[in-house]
Amino acid sequence: MNKPIRKAVFPVAGLGTRFLPATKAMPKEMLTVVDRPVIQHVVDEARAAGIEHFVFVTGRNKGVIEDHFDNQFELERTLQERGKARELEALLRDLPGPGQTSFTRQQGPLGLGHAVWCARDIVGDEPFALLLPDMLHHAPKPYMSDMIAAYEANGGNIIGVYEVPHDQTHQYGIVDVEDANAKVSMINAMIEKPAKGSAPTNLAISGRYILQPEIFDLLARQERGAGGEIQLTDAMITLSQSQPFFAARFDGDIYDCGSKIGFLTANVAYALAREDLAPDFRAALKALLKD
Ligand code: G1P
Repeated sequence: MNKPIRKAVFPVAGLGTRFLPATKAMPKEMLTVVDRPVIQHVVDEARAAGIEHFVFVTGRNKGVIEDHFDNQFELERTLQERGKARELEALLRDLPGPGQTSFTRQQGPLGLGHAVWCARDIVGDEPFALLLPDMLHHAPKPYMSDMIAAYEANGGNIIGVYEVPHDQTHQYGIVDVEDANAKVSMINAMIEKPAKGSAPTNLAISGRYILQPEIFDLLARQERGAGGEIQLTDAMITLSQSQPFFAARFDGDIYDCGSKIGFLTANVAYALAREDLAPDFRAALKALLKD
């Protein structure tokens, strides 16, 4: 039997320089897509997939993320006093319970692999989910549920992948798979940010992973890769010599909220998917775009 996936890691230490000045005093993960912070959308995805413990790898100026996932006594009491039962209920529903969150600090911008390694003691000796908060996976069903289903069927390590335009492969981790048409397929090769024109496929790592705890031993070596950073993909390549890796294809829409266009597009897409907003928002967009 495969060990269950109980914990999820969220690396949230990034500086957010692309969104200055918005991110001068506020973490980029707290930028809102419609009316929820980006990080809340990603935590929702993990919770809907049955994750029980949420591990945030944070950094300086990220304290507000911790506050966001805690009770806000004054606000809750005010909502209660004003009879705003629906708002209060929604607020409390979003909240992980006591003891279900952990926060640790990365202490330096040494790369994604280093951020994940910082979670080693909190995760312990069990397989875990990893979700990169910038990448919003928009689909009718939370994508992490599909990833966990793929893990339950296959065991090993599961990497979420999606097709990107061929001229953008140098911006991602790229995988080559045994059966390019299968929803879940064994991975033959991985490479982090291949030089332009050298990628074996256009299947990019989407920012969702299920990893075995042995990844921490490899990350502990602190070897530098692309961009001089400690790369998660490099540790996965080494781990794939002794453990199977499967690619699980994501067919929905991905919005990279680390880029301005991705973030703006996410706001439009998520608003258009909301029954309470879509009709009026569609009309407003139509009026805006007329010419
Ligand atoms: C990271 C990963 C990369 C993945 C990407 C998805 O890169 O290293 O493999 O494709 O996330 O966003 P980053 O975007 O942090 O440079």
